[in-house]
Amino acid sequence: MSTRCKLNTGAEIPAIGFGTWQDESAQEDAVVEAIKAGYRHIDTARVYGTEKAVGQGVRKSGVPRKDIFITTKLWSNKHHPDDVAPALQQSLDDLGMDYVDLYLMHWPMAWKRGEDPFPKQNGKPVMEDIDFVDTYKAMEKLLQTGKVKAIGVSNFSKAEMERLVQNTSVVPAVHQLECHPWLQQHEFTAWHRVKGIHITHYSPFGNQNAMYSGKGGATKLIDEPLLAEIGKKYTKSAAQVALAWGVTQGHSVLPKSKTPSRIKGNFGGDFKLIPDDMKKIQTINRKIRFNDSSGTFGRDFFMDLEGK
Ligand SMILES: NC(=O)c1ccc[n+]([C@@H]2O[C@H](COP(=O)([O-])OP(=O)(O)OC[C@H]3O[C@@H](n4cnc5c(N)ncnc54)[C@H](OP(=O)(O)O)[C@@H]3O)[C@@H](O)[C@H]2O)c1
Repeated sequence: MSTRCKLNTGAEIPAIGFGTWQDESAQEDAVVEAIKAGYRHIDTARVYGTEKAVGQGVRKSGVPRKDIFITTKLWSNKHHPDDVAPALQQSLDDLGMDYVDLYLMHWPMAWKRGEDPFPKQNGKPVMEDIDFVDTYKAMEKLLQTGKVKAIGVSNFSKAEMERLVQNTSVVPAVHQLECHPWLQQHEFTAWHRVKGIHITHYSPFGNQNAMYSGKGGATKLIDEPLLAEIGKKYTKSAAQVALAWGVTQGHSVLPKSKTPSRIKGNFGGDFKLIPDDMKKIQTINRKIRFNDSSGTFGRDFFMDLEGK
């Protein structure tokens, strides 16, 4: 049985999740392949346009819905408290499911209400003055409907997390954020541990996502010689060690791939590294953040965090 982590709701989240951002047309097959390989945790989002493919893939797999942990996310054009429940319903309709295991606020900022996911004027995003605290309070109400089993956030700074926790009544079950051996964020993740908030790593392979190609120079995180060296001892690849680095901390990780051999291989990242190897990996923290939408999303993010 693969590793599972306990959420503050009492539910369990499988440590290895499957990412579905990008390659929309490949995602239905990829999800089927992932479930066949053993994944029981799938991550999608309204804005990825992959909810239908995820739902189809889950049904095609033949594995009962209840055995799979499904996450989706509220996009920034639906932050008005009146829009939150209908936005969830749109996601559920596309997934073809009656509930999600986890519903996350994708980013801590609001854009103009409406159906346009990227509302722009003169090339700039049109912001809406909606406090993420109010959006989150509307998400809290979803818990009573049974349509979401847990709620959480993504891409919040430390100050934003503190304000959220101080002003709301349901402690987020999960914070999904960029984290990998080149952006380790130990202080920030320790803060979450104290608060009982589970951490999920997105982009666990750092700059492997083609959209991040400009940053970090020509080298790739998964080409780090130290990761390959450590892997030898466990007969694992550098990519699998990068995932195990998250799993060993009690976090979940979300590798994405449309390639069957990689989908299978990444599931083999579910193992624990010994403390000595974890210590060695601390030495390669380059503090590079690849997914920073500051500017293009109309405001600054991650201001008090590593990699800024
Ligand atoms: N909350 C957020 O704001 C947020 C932001 C980013 C991502 N996410 C979530 O996290 C997931 C993962 O992040 P990500 O997609 O940015 O990046 P990632 O999983 O770190 O990297 C994906 C890239 O790595 C390649 N790859 C996968 N396995 C590999 C392996 N074993 N060896 C070499 N290359 C490999 C994939 O190629 P192929 O597909 O061609 O095989 C793809 O190009 C997303 O899909 C999404 O679900 C969330």
